[in-house]
Amino acid sequence: MNNLCEHIAVLSKEVIRELNIQKSGLYCDATFGGGGHAKEILSRLNKFGRLLVIDCDLEAIKIARNLALQDNRLLVMHGFFSKIVTFASQLNLLGRVNGILLDLGVSSLQIENSQRGFSFMRNEPLDMRMNNTCGQSASEWLAKASVQEITWVLRTLGEEKFALRIAKNIVQQRQWKSIDTTQELVSLVLDVVPRFFDRHKHPLTKTFRAIRMHVNRELEEIIQVLEGSLMVLSSGGKLLVISFHSGEDRIVKNFMRKYSLRRSLIVNNFPLIKVQDAMCCFSQYKLCNVSRIFPSHQEKKNNPRARSAVMRIAEKL
Ligand SMILES: C[S@@+](CC[C@H](N)C(=O)[O-])C[C@H]1O[C@@H](n2cnc3c(N)ncnc32)[C@H](O)[C@@H]1O
Repeated sequence: MNNLCEHIAVLSKEVIRELNIQKSGLYCDATFGGGGHAKEILSRLNKFGRLLVIDCDLEAIKIARNLALQDNRLLVMHGFFSKIVTFASQLNLLGRVNGILLDLGVSSLQIENSQRGFSFMRNEPLDMRMNNTCGQSASEWLAKASVQEITWVLRTLGEEKFALRIAKNIVQQRQWKSIDTTQELVSLVLDVVPRFFDRHKHPLTKTFRAIRMHVNRELEEIIQVLEGSLMVLSSGGKLLVISFHSGEDRIVKNFMRKYSLRRSLIVNNFPLIKVQDAMCCFSQYKLCNVSRIFPSHQEKKNNPRARSAVMRIAEKL
């Protein structure tokens, strides 16, 4: 990765305000990326404060490790954030973390500089893995997936209306030539999707995003890290999640609702409570203070990537 492009941290001011950083606190940035948010958090900690950073991308981890060489308050873990409980437990941080930040999706560094095929604007190998040390690349998946499987991914994760047409074209054409590059995928999609069907979105955006989300198991990862956050946060600890996709945001919303609802069930002594819900009411983890934050008009103007961002926040009781 070179320095052609930098990642601009989204909702940076709001993240710092909502984390309400205690100088000697323990924090976790589970999506280090280019380190934009992490550096802001670090600059507010004193010598007793600690910041655990996680990223599954080795290029991002390289940046984090370089930073850690000059700053021993930074603890760096390479891997998926679904393993947050394991990482926190290795560092003896379970139940002690004052704030967790999840800034979901891919960074501009990955899109612009990684040469792993995240962008349909360049011709690169069709890999799309954030962590290319394991799992299946997009090209490997497209070589074997059935029409039904590809259609499901494009429809569910990409909300692509022409999912079936695209899937059929991929499966038909791969008999003659494997799909190894972004431009090969681009032509297969453009063959069958009307170019001006959606005035607001490029016809390739949905397909590329859906395949990326599938290859990286992005929604499954979110579900696991959210559940894990309950074990990692201290009482009063904040959970901040920035999403860029309606599917991600729905998972976050439902998770936060689920844990704050249980609290209101106790408070109101709701009479029709189910037995398993009643058990949950007495579990020690509940989230409250549910709110939602969007980037300002000015931020969206300065950083187009921020346009679809939404941040949800919850506080552990
Ligand atoms: C939007 S960027 C974060 C940018 C960062 N907040 C900044 O200010 O530079 C998302 C980062 O999260 C990482 N990431 C996404 N999903 C992940 C997962 N399941 N486990 C670990 N890291 C993940 C990506 O590799 C990427 O570097």
